[in-house]
Amino acid sequence: MNKTKVAIIGCGTIANAAHGPSYGRNPNVEIAYCVDIILERAVALATAYGDETTKAIIDYREAIADPTVTCVSVCVPNYLHAPITIDCLDAGKNVLCEKPAAMNYAEAVSMKEAADRNNRILNIGVVNRFSTAVNKVKDLIEGGELGVVYHVYCSFRSYRSIPGLGGPFTTKEMAGGGVLIDWGVHFLDLINYCIGGPAMKTASASAYNQLGKNLRDYVFTDMWAGPPNYAGQCDVEEFITGMIRTDGPTITLNGAWAQNIDERAMFIEFLGDKAGIKLEYGSNFTLYSTKGGMLTKTVPSFNMADMFYEELDAFVKCAAVNGKIRSNIDSVLITAQMMDALYQSAEEGREIAI
Ligand SMILES: NC(=O)c1ccc[n+]([C@@H]2O[C@H](COP(=O)([O-])OP(=O)(O)OC[C@H]3O[C@@H](n4cnc5c(N)ncnc54)[C@H](O)[C@@H]3O)[C@@H](O)[C@H]2O)c1
Repeated sequence: MNKTKVAIIGCGTIANAAHGPSYGRNPNVEIAYCVDIILERAVALATAYGDETTKAIIDYREAIADPTVTCVSVCVPNYLHAPITIDCLDAGKNVLCEKPAAMNYAEAVSMKEAADRNNRILNIGVVNRFSTAVNKVKDLIEGGELGVVYHVYCSFRSYRSIPGLGGPFTTKEMAGGGVLIDWGVHFLDLINYCIGGPAMKTASASAYNQLGKNLRDYVFTDMWAGPPNYAGQCDVEEFITGMIRTDGPTITLNGAWAQNIDERAMFIEFLGDKAGIKLEYGSNFTLYSTKGGMLTKTVPSFNMADMFYEELDAFVKCAAVNGKIRSNIDSVLITAQMMDALYQSAEEGREIAI
């Protein structure tokens, strides 16, 4: 069988943590191009995970002009997701674009339209959909184990953990937003996946940019995606609280890249009338139920798949047969729509009806 030739555009953190290593060890994949505007990064990724034929280049247009390349990973900052993804689709490539789909819902829709008009696959990096624990939670909910799921609460809060202060993550015109679009997107997507993508009715939120707004005053012990760029800006929220009404459960959320409480609270609670589940983000879950008039508490054991490998392997496989799978843009748009409504509500200080 011929190997699928892929290009990785953007050779930063996620390319090194997931796309490079997962493609690199996939026997059915050949990394044909590593692309980054900083050539050393492209060379480093190609050297670590490619082979002697892998090209390290700075212009993605060269990679997508190669007719032998069929699949592309887009791993660049958020403001480049839509333009680069659409260029790739228009060049006839299948694309896996990292999360969030785009800076906002309108851009995400334009990406879907590009996939449709070119009859190509567009998946988004909603990697939790490939987590073993998340799929077990989904199965339990769909199997009726929880009864009627009436509420879902999620917390994505950390202590003094603003990323790359002054860089792309904290600059609204490059990121689209702060902790909601960066971390919250994973939580909302996972919830929508598990409860079946209910239609949104209203959204309400308040968002705050308190701790990082005066860049030099922000105190931290370490900074992911750093170091800080004091010549840059922080005009996105580091804290958000919100509520979404749907035609299914209500969803509430609290998210903080940074807060003045030294605790990391990353979890999702699904409340049903028969049972509840607390899922620790990226880890296992606990099922709280009753049996024969007794309270039960179950912590299951199972083998955890490597979700990034599964996500990227599923991408190349579905691209080969032009088939839509669970990470297709179609089922991801709802999360972009929810985030737009939460941001609009926070900006206008009122509840948004859809
Ligand atoms: N799935 C996940 O859990 C996960 C985790 C981290 C990041 N991400 C997402 O991945 C994306 C990248 O994040 P990151 O942390 O890797 O950022 P990063 O800054 O470490 O890497 C981005 C890279 O893109 C390069 N780049 C910028 N413009 C380019 C262009 N025009 N052509 C080619 N390369 C270009 C930069 O030089 C940089 O090396 C973001 O959208 C982020 O939200 C997803």
